[in-house]
Amino acid sequence: MADIVSDRQHNAYFASFFTPRPTPRVTQKQLFGKHIVLGVGGSIAAYKAIPLLRRLTDLGADVEVVMTASARHFITPLTFQTLSGHPVHTDLFASNSNMAHLRLAETADLILVSPATANLIGRFAHGLADDLLSTLILASHAPLLIVPAMDGDMWQHPRVQQNVQTLRETSVEVLDPEFGTLASGHVGWGRFPSEETIMSSIISLLTMPSDYHSEVVLITAGPTHEAIDPVRYIANRSSGKMGHALAQAAQKRGAKVTFITGPTSLTPPPSVHTISISTAKEMQNEVHKHFERATVVIMAAAVADYQLTHTAATKLKKHEQKHLSLTLSLTPDILGTLASKKTGQFIVGFAAETESLIEEATRKLQEKGLDMIIANDVTQPDTGFGSDTNAAIVLDMHGIAENIPLMPKHEMATKILDLIRHRLGNR
Ligand code: C5P
Repeated sequence: MADIVSDRQHNAYFASFFTPRPTPRVTQKQLFGKHIVLGVGGSIAAYKAIPLLRRLTDLGADVEVVMTASARHFITPLTFQTLSGHPVHTDLFASNSNMAHLRLAETADLILVSPATANLIGRFAHGLADDLLSTLILASHAPLLIVPAMDGDMWQHPRVQQNVQTLRETSVEVLDPEFGTLASGHVGWGRFPSEETIMSSIISLLTMPSDYHSEVVLITAGPTHEAIDPVRYIANRSSGKMGHALAQAAQKRGAKVTFITGPTSLTPPPSVHTISISTAKEMQNEVHKHFERATVVIMAAAVADYQLTHTAATKLKKHEQKHLSLTLSLTPDILGTLASKKTGQFIVGFAAETESLIEEATRKLQEKGLDMIIANDVTQPDTGFGSDTNAAIVLDMHGIAENIPLMPKHEMATKILDLIRHRLGNR
């Protein structure tokens, strides 16, 4: 349906929901037993929440709708009430609400905000809780799926993009709007995603395997910083994105995750036990502390190989030394020390290489006593340090196990966890 609809088209569209249909549209109740909270924001795309609600209830989901004050300018609660079979929640302070924000927050298997305006996205990103929808989102541990709908210029505004980024870094799934004709008549990014795209995201979030529920996964991420003096350090280009994606994916699949991270600009996934460290030595101490309890260890950190033999206690002054020589010594090889402590842990390392990828990765797999190694050729564009995508060759003791083509790091995290799960067997 086009974004711009006349009143007549609008009314005919609504009426079609109340017209008896000759045959049921869906027979498979794929979402039976799932409780979905559908938050509707104040956008012209609010009417697109109606067929979505129909699709969800057709699949057996129990859907309760929460409307923001501005959403009610576009559609009346009665429409959603009739189609969901539940009163629509609109007011945090309603005398008959019986703490609806807490009940909905606790019982939801998924919170879907569709459509989400720039204002809602900004409020969620900053943790504001000034109405029912934003309050229940803060009170809930359920997965959150956001379907933005707004004008293309608004969507591309740096502040909106920053808010979207903040949400994505905290495990919230934000769909990208599509390109096309907008309600303003302009053509651009901002079009509400297709119903099929939204449905497939909902189904994959709700049917995500919880095949890691009995695993305790220890993940390291990011660079380490090795101090030269109180203000300077040696580091590398690791952004920590791969390790974050792994922590997020493992947690979503039910694992208890301990996440040891060097300094990055990312926000660690919520509900993950995060330990921030700075140096290789500190990372080693924390890894050793948590190793025994872990069943799976994934060392995605780009640990510095060298540290200063001597760290200056005060800031080095350039007028005192024209030339500066630093003496470096090897850092502890954290991964290399784990094999001898192994009590059944499945250990995975990473190898970022600029040449002889397979040979180097095979050597590391054997020398460090690993069960699996993920080898990245960091000379390729869009792979390895800093980028949002990655490509890798996965090796185990039998040789090359998988060739993972270029893909977003969060998809690669899922692939890596699938490969590990397969080798862990059913336990
Ligand atoms: O030997 P190399 O640094 O290339 O090995 C990479 C793998 O070893 C990564 O998994 C990294 O996290 C880990 N590593 C480590 N301790 C070091 C250096 C690297 O555990 N000092």
